[in-house]
Amino acid sequence: MYYHKLGKFPQKRHTQFRRPDGKLYTEELFGAEGFSGNSSLLYHNHPPTTVKRVEQGAEIKIEPWKEGLLRHHHLVTKDLKPWGDPISGQICVMFNDDVKISLCLPKEEMKYFYRNGEHDELIFIHKGEGYMQSQFGRLPFRPFDYIVVPRGTTYKLHFTTDDNRMLICDSTGPIEFPKRYVSKMGQFMENSPFCERDIRVPEEPLFFDEEGEFELRIRKQGRFHHYFFAFNPLDVVGWDGYLYPYIFNMKDFEPITGRVHQPPPVHQTFEAHNYVVCSFCPRKYDYHPLAIPAPYNHSNVDSDEVLYYVEGDFMSRKGVEFASLTHHPGGIPHGPHPGTVEKSIGKEATDEYAVMIDTFRPLHLTMAAKEMDDGHYPYSWIAHA
Ligand SMILES: [Fe+2]
Repeated sequence: MYYHKLGKFPQKRHTQFRRPDGKLYTEELFGAEGFSGNSSLLYHNHPPTTVKRVEQGAEIKIEPWKEGLLRHHHLVTKDLKPWGDPISGQICVMFNDDVKISLCLPKEEMKYFYRNGEHDELIFIHKGEGYMQSQFGRLPFRPFDYIVVPRGTTYKLHFTTDDNRMLICDSTGPIEFPKRYVSKMGQFMENSPFCERDIRVPEEPLFFDEEGEFELRIRKQGRFHHYFFAFNPLDVVGWDGYLYPYIFNMKDFEPITGRVHQPPPVHQTFEAHNYVVCSFCPRKYDYHPLAIPAPYNHSNVDSDEVLYYVEGDFMSRKGVEFASLTHHPGGIPHGPHPGTVEKSIGKEATDEYAVMIDTFRPLHLTMAAKEMDDGHYPYSWIAHA
């Protein structure tokens, strides 16, 4: 990300900066790669180390579905019932060592602050509105927003709506924009399908001067750890730097089109270690006079492909619906459903929205995913099916 600042801080880093009562503010360097990567400098009212009490929280159990079969999957998620809060309600459906993919239809308010100490998070807001309040300020969110949260961010998600749905990637590596979109100094270039003006960054309010008992749940080493403070941990009066949560809305992605079918990398939105995230958005179809807008069959030997269907009519698929998740594992080909290729010819545009997650190492499905699995999907390419 690029340089951003909010609130007040001293002109020179690592120098005296005093509260109105004459005591020093506490400076904190917030970085995700030691002292080498991007970072921000935050100024707290209280030292962030002054914890009153620590309690062990629940273990995070991800139960793999040991199916032992290489096949395509279609997870029907539209009938999931709201459950839990924006953290406790997360249901992991697929995972590997690089990314954990979860769904969440939160029903309750978060009564605590949360910090993921082991993953960057990519939160796709499918339905619902509200705001994320973190030590970097407030980020109002709306449908189709991707919220990128660097590991270590202390935050709370507040929904102001009742009908809410999220798709979440917990990422072992940092989540970044594709390197080919940005200049060597980090500016989005003309070939990028979006630019700085499309990115939303934290805004005021920032500083919460409150006393009482405040709980922070930290995720680290496969479990939750409950920390209790005597003050609101969002007590930052100012910060500046390159590392902070931000939002990009999928509807601000400007699709790249061509005379003939363009491959999925033109839809790429984010990259992380061993996987990428793409946004399929409404666009004009290919304009060669003999073009076939439907995608060709392809054998993704080296990657697993996951598609989350957000909105619209997904031209090459039959049977998928709102919030369907398909998983096309590496090693076997996949392609358009019978009849969809001929039907696509002559069509001028699509109104589809979908999120694609391609991983370069195999994904494992969970027992929760088994409950949503449409067992007929692997045979849906047979013409009479
Ligand atoms: Fe594909």
